[in-house]
Amino acid sequence: MNKIRATITGLDAYLPEYILTNEELSQMVDTSDEWIMQRVGIKERRILKDPSKATAFMVSEAAKKLLNKKKVSPSEIDLVICATTTPDMQFPSTACLACDNLGIKNAWAFDIQAACSGFIYALETASKFVESGQYKKVLLLAGDKMSSIVDYTDRNTCPLFGDAGTALLLEPTTEELGVMDHLFFSDGAGRDFLYLKAGGSLNPSSFETVKAREHFVYQEGKTVFKFAVSNMADVSVEMMNRHHLTPETIDWLVPHQANLRIIDAVGRRMGLPPEKVMINISRYGNTTSATIPLCLWENEKELRKGGNLILAAFGGGFTWGAMYLKWAYDTL
Ligand code: UT7
Repeated sequence: MNKIRATITGLDAYLPEYILTNEELSQMVDTSDEWIMQRVGIKERRILKDPSKATAFMVSEAAKKLLNKKKVSPSEIDLVICATTTPDMQFPSTACLACDNLGIKNAWAFDIQAACSGFIYALETASKFVESGQYKKVLLLAGDKMSSIVDYTDRNTCPLFGDAGTALLLEPTTEELGVMDHLFFSDGAGRDFLYLKAGGSLNPSSFETVKAREHFVYQEGKTVFKFAVSNMADVSVEMMNRHHLTPETIDWLVPHQANLRIIDAVGRRMGLPPEKVMINISRYGNTTSATIPLCLWENEKELRKGGNLILAAFGGGFTWGAMYLKWAYDTL
């Protein structure tokens, strides 16, 4: 019998309406459209302004559209996994909250936190449940309300991030399609370069931590940049070698969208022409867990059944990795 593989059979996204432009940011901190476009490649990002709504809301809105479109009832979902670094609360999990929003009652649900690699880590995890043969419909949610942990007085970080929620359906197949391979790493030695200083069990929230602005993203950009380029490129090239993939046989590189210069460097190391690299960073910035599914969703019509995709990400931890997927359907 052929091996059971996990395929993405549908996806959708939720984008908040509010658009924060570089012009507006330039009035908030000492920056400019020119600097942000040259150094990062972001023009605008979406912000969830409603203080009563957060990540669970965004991923649930994406999932509602997806279930509707796929004509899948909430009762058919066996498992819900949510990739997020900005959960609504430390507990319960955002996946649990999303189940409640969606009326999903026959599933178990949990979150995965791997910063900007959260989506690929969660996709690999979800695919293992499907490959077991026990799970027929897994809902994979990925989203972040980065505006809840961004310091809008810090020009080093505030231009970089945006908010978004996404949802994907994973189902089994015995065709040679879907999640083919992964190559992932983590290195906690990177913890000093990209992190949230307070609010966890090491440094619980206090008057002092709030006063010291320690509940916002802290990043040493230059160091993270160097590790991101070399590690994302290394795993992507190794994935190509493992599967004898060439720039000609790869249809798309779908990279995490943190910086256009990182994306370009990874594409060049893989020998790919720019038209095979999915990029939408200019409109949404770095939405952390949501960047890769947001790219796939926007370009769904370009994806062909059997097409070879490499997904690659790098994030806080450090965490990084590449996945090889064979896309499972044509969108007419
Ligand atoms: O997604 C998770 C992983 N994260 C990443 O992959 C992010 C990786 N890092 C980066 O993308 C880049 O390092 C940044 C975009 C964060 C920063 O770009 P950079 O080219 O590495 O700039 P820098 O931090 O070395 O700063 C260069 C200069 C500094 O001024 P001086 O010291 O040379 O006078 C900064 O103060 O640019 C200044 N600068 C700014 N100027 C205008 C930093 N931010 C800004 C700004 N506007 N927003």
